[in-house]
Amino acid sequence: MSEKQVFNPNPEFSKNARIKNMDEYNALQNKAMNDYEGFWGDFAKEKIDWIEPFTNTLDESNFPFVKWFEGGKLNVSTQCIDRHLDTRKNKAAIIFEGDRGDVQTITYLDLYKNVNRFANLLKEDFGVKKGNRVVIYMPMIPEAAYAMLACARIGAIHSIVFGGFSSEALKDRIIDAEAKVVITADGAFRKTKPYMLKPVVDAALEGETPVEKVLVVERNNEDVTWVAGRDYSYNELIKDKSAVCEAQVMDAEDPLFLLYTSGSTGKPKGVQHNSAGYILWAQMTMEWVFDVKENDTYWCTADVGWITGHTYIVYGPLAMGATTVMFEGVITYPDAGRPWAMVENHRINQFYTAPTAIRVLHKMGEDAPAKYDLSSLKVLGTVGEPIDPPAWKWYYEEVGSSKCAIVDTYWQTETGGHVVSPLPGATPIKPACATLSLPGIMGEILDPETGVKVGVGESGYMCITRPWPSMIRGVWGDEERFVKSYFGDVKKDGKPVYFTGDGANYDNDGYITITGRTDDVINVSGHRMGTAEVEAAIKKHSNVAEVAVVGKPHELKGEGIFAYVVLKSDDGVADEVEEVKIINNIIKKEIGNIALCDDMVFAPGLPKTRSGKIMRRILRSIAKGEKITQDISTLEDPSVVEKINSMVNK
Ligand code: WTA
Repeated sequence: MSEKQVFNPNPEFSKNARIKNMDEYNALQNKAMNDYEGFWGDFAKEKIDWIEPFTNTLDESNFPFVKWFEGGKLNVSTQCIDRHLDTRKNKAAIIFEGDRGDVQTITYLDLYKNVNRFANLLKEDFGVKKGNRVVIYMPMIPEAAYAMLACARIGAIHSIVFGGFSSEALKDRIIDAEAKVVITADGAFRKTKPYMLKPVVDAALEGETPVEKVLVVERNNEDVTWVAGRDYSYNELIKDKSAVCEAQVMDAEDPLFLLYTSGSTGKPKGVQHNSAGYILWAQMTMEWVFDVKENDTYWCTADVGWITGHTYIVYGPLAMGATTVMFEGVITYPDAGRPWAMVENHRINQFYTAPTAIRVLHKMGEDAPAKYDLSSLKVLGTVGEPIDPPAWKWYYEEVGSSKCAIVDTYWQTETGGHVVSPLPGATPIKPACATLSLPGIMGEILDPETGVKVGVGESGYMCITRPWPSMIRGVWGDEERFVKSYFGDVKKDGKPVYFTGDGANYDNDGYITITGRTDDVINVSGHRMGTAEVEAAIKKHSNVAEVAVVGKPHELKGEGIFAYVVLKSDDGVADEVEEVKIINNIIKKEIGNIALCDDMVFAPGLPKTRSGKIMRRILRSIAKGEKITQDISTLEDPSVVEKINSMVNK
């Protein structure tokens, strides 16, 4: 056994869990290893409500362009709604809690009607057809879920852009996806005050864009500008729509959505997920990892603008027929007891959030959980970044009363659903450890040079060595980038395998600990940020000659953004504070508040090799205040290292 403390699953929860113990886990994983197609084919037959059955489980002849469940026909919205109507018509599908505490319960029948009306609106009034791209720029309100499912119903491909992104970021994504429709809201409420989204859409649509029509959900009823012939009120148009809309018959591999995410180079990539494989794994992981039971209430605090919101607020829970909570507000408002009050009020059984949120809730309200009745909780999830042991301990002991399972779920936009995670009824857990690959997922930590599995305690690259159903199917409009970004780094037995971009290691029990990105992606509060994107924004400032951005450990956010900026004028900066403000304003305009720099230094130069490559590792060490151990003698100008170091670590 490893030196880390082990917590066995609560026997009371294990008794009725879908996967009850490690023998059951091992049996499933062995089946997958011995008969991969049989494993997935059986689950696909059992879980999906096929319109026509599939004829071939997996075609990997053109790897990494793989096809799952060929010949199968389905519709993801009927999988999430219609098939539940016989047994769950009056069950809550979504419980919405607004920022101001307003609560709305949407049953599966309500959901059916609202989604069908929405789908009819898109079809009849906006001419949206199968395969068209629709950008969704929405707050956390039920209409965001209706919009997603309405697109799925008519075969349109949605591309959600997180509401915190700026007009420039929104515009880039609209253009890349060639979207003809944008769905947005006037705005919503945050800390009881209205905030606005529509003006951001207006700014994004200035100049040439492919957008023909904009649908505006009126949520906060603040004044907005209406462009005649382009902007339409959802609240008006929806009134006369029929609550019946036939679902478009979709091929298993027809695209379901795009979601833009950051990589180590260039602009964000439009990650494409297709219908059958994605929804299958969304549903299966919901069942296995959260073990949601028929009368349970489940809450994931993510935003639908990120993959966690797609898979674990909307698609996964609804596909399995669960009750999913959607929250518009801020979890620390009016105080750090808000989530615990919600757990008590809605009797929430599974709670899923990011380590950043846990750290903030811990710091702001260490004793807050004790003030509420949290006895309904069974499973506590974390996602998005490595969780640190103190945060884990507080979550386990204070929120979970040392009886809940903590599922540290490791996955990515590209994986569609969880890939490494404990199973709440089966896996003995260790603090801050994602534990084992889920059944069916061939996760392996490989040596990047040799492609051989690393030994205990050695660092390697987190890879997945066989295609899985909810695997990314492409980068929108760029096949080469898809192949290069994910299948170019690691080969096993001479064949390329999927590389996640994360480093990891095994402990004595074979448990996987994810150590973080090996590339130039920073993880700020669980949000993925490409250093190249932030650098490109900073370079828009006319006085910036060069810039390098790195991540720096941050007490609450996990990682903060540290920028080294070289200005064009040699005579330094007259007013550093003012200059930082100007640069941060540019970042705000180009990307959004989530990319603002935590630290910025105006450096005399950057450490570069003679071929001009910036040595980011040195910059990371300086940002952390570490001793510089790298060999700097080969740099173009070694003296710059000491100069920068003395500025940062005075
Ligand atoms: C990181 C979020 C450690 C990782 C679902 C990954 C994690 C990136 C964990 C994906 C975890 C996610 N432990 N690191 N449990 N979960 N990550 O695409 O670096 O927004 O590559 O998807 O988050 O971020 P993305």
